[in-house]
Amino acid sequence: MAQLWGGRFTKETDQLVYNFNASISFDKKLYAQDIRGSIAHVMMLAKQGILTDAEKDQIIEGLEGILSDIERGKLVISEQCEDIHSFVEATLIERIGNAGKKLHTGRSRNDQVALDMKMYARDEVLLVDNLIEDMLHVLLSIMEENTETFMPGFTHLQKAQPITLAHHMGAYFEMFRRDHERLKSIYERMDTCPLGSGALAGTTYPLDREYSATLLGFEKPTMNSMDGVSDRDYLIEFLSALSVIMMHLSRFSEEVIIWNSNEYQFVEIDDAYSTGSSIMPQKKNPDIAELVRGKTGRVYGALMSLLTTMKGIPLAYNKDMQEDKEMVFDAIDTVKDCLTLFTGMIRTMQFKKDRMEASAKNGFTNATDAADYLVNHGVPFRDAHGIVGQLVLYCIQKGIALDDMELSEFQEISPVFEEDIYEAIRMDTCVNKRVTTGAPGKAAMEEAIESYKKYLQEY
Ligand code: ARG
Repeated sequence: MAQLWGGRFTKETDQLVYNFNASISFDKKLYAQDIRGSIAHVMMLAKQGILTDAEKDQIIEGLEGILSDIERGKLVISEQCEDIHSFVEATLIERIGNAGKKLHTGRSRNDQVALDMKMYARDEVLLVDNLIEDMLHVLLSIMEENTETFMPGFTHLQKAQPITLAHHMGAYFEMFRRDHERLKSIYERMDTCPLGSGALAGTTYPLDREYSATLLGFEKPTMNSMDGVSDRDYLIEFLSALSVIMMHLSRFSEEVIIWNSNEYQFVEIDDAYSTGSSIMPQKKNPDIAELVRGKTGRVYGALMSLLTTMKGIPLAYNKDMQEDKEMVFDAIDTVKDCLTLFTGMIRTMQFKKDRMEASAKNGFTNATDAADYLVNHGVPFRDAHGIVGQLVLYCIQKGIALDDMELSEFQEISPVFEEDIYEAIRMDTCVNKRVTTGAPGKAAMEEAIESYKKYLQEY
């Protein structure tokens, strides 16, 4: 198909050059944004008297026909065209003739592609955000059911202090809530419309940029036409938010994999979200969690790639910027898939509360509380730490837990211990005494849950 820009050329482009330069194989994803952008542009041109109403109506009817034909599979986007912009324009001219040739008045592909990509990114920010919202709902419901499900909390992957499953899930609620806040603020910064920036220096036509911005649902037009065509910050910010989401999902995946291991057995992943082994019949593998952890790399890769692409580009548009698409598309699709699958996996996953509680009981997660008991009886903390260290060593040698020691055994190591030590180091005491804001105690958790419910109602 003819190029949009053949006029000043005397030969056909070399085929390899043509292929290397073309972007249709991937920017065809932007057909709907491209057409919506063109319709707004044409409405604005007519309002400004640059096109007649008849021309506007003819062009819009043509563009709407193209959109619905693509959507119904009646029109295949031909890879004979260089990019999606050329395809839409060439098809329009083919269908409606001369009026179609006026579509590109007062516009360049530079502001056109900047607009298409921004519209695409805006829509996708909202879609990703919906999936974050689903995740938050699932986390909240697990929290509500598990304010008394005790489990070990870890540091260094060593049992540290007892917590609850609600508390552990609450940590992820906080992470994904920050992801939501990030997406929200990125969206707000993306709310400027580059259409009308022209190639780089605006145009000589009396465009009404505020009007086209409003038609396309943007708050306002971009304020500098060179920046308008060459800004890709919003994609970098989006990729950065997506990378953080993947980092969160990857940490969560790692925990699910550990919890699902034969050694831990804290959870059982539903059959629908597990896979088997071709050779070992007993296997039920956490492949979804592993894949989510693995795919984190490609999303980080997209971020690094675009940051690197942009770093040496002088103002304004340069063709390097065509490289903003494939990896961004891939990263967005990857994150949406990962969020969808991961949320489904934890929604259906069984938590084995007995195993969790048994694990918290064995491993001295109440040792800090035994030390706190001594402190409450006047022993300086550093001495209390040493005494409980001796208790732990004694228990390890006997193969028992602190709770299994006789009172006489306690008292042999420190006479400060009394009968009420058993109460002080019981699992529910250890957890439920921790009621400062953000702590795992039931009262603190219930407050957190209330605030999360409100947060989700106002989301
Ligand atoms: N395919 C191009 C891109 O994705 C469209 C803009 C082309 N502009 C140009 N001056 N060659 O960036």
